[in-house]
Amino acid sequence: MPTTLLFDLSNGLARVTIDRPDKLNALNATVIAELGDAVTRIETDAAVRGVILTGSGSKAFVAGADISELAAQTPMQGKARSALGQQVFRRLERCGKPVIAAVNGFALGGGCELAMACHIRIAADHAKFGQPEVKLGIGPGYGGTARLPRLVGKGRALELLLTGGTIDAAEAYRIGLVNRVVPGDQLLAESETLLRTILENGPLAIRTCLELVDAGLDTTLEQALSLEANHFGLLSATDDMREGTKAFLEKRKPAFKGV
Ligand code: COA
Repeated sequence: MPTTLLFDLSNGLARVTIDRPDKLNALNATVIAELGDAVTRIETDAAVRGVILTGSGSKAFVAGADISELAAQTPMQGKARSALGQQVFRRLERCGKPVIAAVNGFALGGGCELAMACHIRIAADHAKFGQPEVKLGIGPGYGGTARLPRLVGKGRALELLLTGGTIDAAEAYRIGLVNRVVPGDQLLAESETLLRTILENGPLAIRTCLELVDAGLDTTLEQALSLEANHFGLLSATDDMREGTKAFLEKRKPAFKGV
């Protein structure tokens, strides 16, 4: 049984809640291990079709890596901590199912990095974002220097990374760090509505979009286009594609089966 994480599955939608509210859901070694287990379930359990990731309470999504663990680490332990967290976040990013971060408060350091590893971010209006690691004399270790510039551009990313300052949800929306900002009491409902809208579509098509955008951003435009054409062809072999196009022509809702 996990001790720092809640995993609730209902009608295909998994809600994963990081649950250390007394420490603002900071990512200690146990949280990272249990998050890894949760990702394994997301990857392998066919009953999980999409994920909402959030934090316990209304104050913090995740206030970063656990500073009490960082304080004592040796260089080799630091490298291993970073590599393990990066691997868990990357597996989440590549799990093939849509993952929405419902950012319910502080998303600092590893919390901002975890939100960025999700596919879509919805922020409560009181949420705050930042990469304050430099204030501790260290840098980001869970992908901040890699994902932040990809999401908001180099200049804005460097301003956040170098100052260690925090921005509010409205500013995070303005620079493209989050998709939407909603009142705090509507965060989970809005996240669930968006996820359910996504899950009405063909699951193989969704998986393909996730895979192509992930791979396409790290390659040339020519290669990305070629990959897209191949997948466009591949999806034409699926029952879901026949069903989706037929349903349109018959003016009815499609019944996708994921095959
Ligand atoms: N690691 C470990 N513990 C943390 C933590 C972290 N990243 N962030 C918060 N906590 C703990 C605090 O130590 C405190 O524990 P205590 O009650 O046992 O003393 C508890 O969570 C509540 O935090 P507190 O600092 O008292 O709340 P606040 O409202 O005064 O401030 C923050 C909130 C988010 C501004 C502040 O907690 C903070 O700056 N956290 C660190 C953020 C950070 O640097 N993250 C990057 C780490 S690499």
